[in-house]
Amino acid sequence: MSTTSEWPLELIVADTVPLTAEIRLLKLKAADGKPLPAFSAGAHLRFKVDLAASGSLPATAPGARQASLPGERCYSLVNSADLSGDYEIAVKLEAAGAGGSRFMHALQTGEPICAALPQNDFPLHDEPHEAVLMAGGIGITPILSMARELSAKGAAYHLHYAARTPDTMAYRDDVSQLCGEQASLYFDYGDPTRGMPLAEVIGSPAPHRHLYVCGPRPLIDAVIAAARDKQWSPAQVHFELFGAPPAAAGDRPCRVVLQRSGLALEVPAGTSILAAMIDARLDPLFDCQRGECGVCAVRVLSGTPDHRDYALSDEEREHLMCVCVSRATEGELVLDA
Ligand code: FES
Repeated sequence: MSTTSEWPLELIVADTVPLTAEIRLLKLKAADGKPLPAFSAGAHLRFKVDLAASGSLPATAPGARQASLPGERCYSLVNSADLSGDYEIAVKLEAAGAGGSRFMHALQTGEPICAALPQNDFPLHDEPHEAVLMAGGIGITPILSMARELSAKGAAYHLHYAARTPDTMAYRDDVSQLCGEQASLYFDYGDPTRGMPLAEVIGSPAPHRHLYVCGPRPLIDAVIAAARDKQWSPAQVHFELFGAPPAAAGDRPCRVVLQRSGLALEVPAGTSILAAMIDARLDPLFDCQRGECGVCAVRVLSGTPDHRDYALSDEEREHLMCVCVSRATEGELVLDA
């Protein structure tokens, strides 16, 4: 296996299995047959995808910006971290997306795909603890890996998993078999009032309890708000967004002046300030592109940001903004970049 390129993992699709009408499991093995690099529960792989081959929008088209750069997509590993063979990921087909999921769904057994080494931005807390695991939709993928690791250790946990209907719930049988009474499944059938009872599920904070949630942004936001209401410490609430933060209704183009670079950018609705900076051939620092890590934070010299990150404190928001997700409430922003 080559270890020198940006894409050191040369993989082959070993098998594919439809899990639901929209979700497909892919098993991946090393092209050279050697053991794959280890990872820990919650880790993901970043894949090189061919958007042109998927018949998608060109990378510069409005709406083509996703959580990864054009030509890259990240998917959580579903395996137990006690890796005995192939990597396993599950991909939900996003019909209106920019093409990454279409590319992944079109892969057939025996076809090659390149990836970066496993990375974990959503690890389990390393001290013994009781885990409350919460997943919405395809957000089950890292959560199931965590449940597998916790089960293997005999650790205390409960997995709460929500989907619209039983037919759309990937890994339903795996969760039931693995977790037994340590899992609760919820189906809302399109009626949000029948969804997961968050306050009850989250329960009371305690020094030994940690909360892990993965799913769409409305679920993450609701869990964070419910945990805050119950006085949970942010250090004990762990989350990972599935996919890119959606554009907010009413997003408008904004003008961003980068004072040190001497550039003024017109940032269309649907394009992040970070993406506009990269398009302008600047080299901004960034990592998650979901507002979670804070790496892309820049100093605001004037203007009013519309903060949409999860990384900055109220105090930090007085002078910083995360350009991967946040925009301007109105008018012009002047940034120290
Ligand atoms: S890149 Fe992580 S918060 Fe912006």
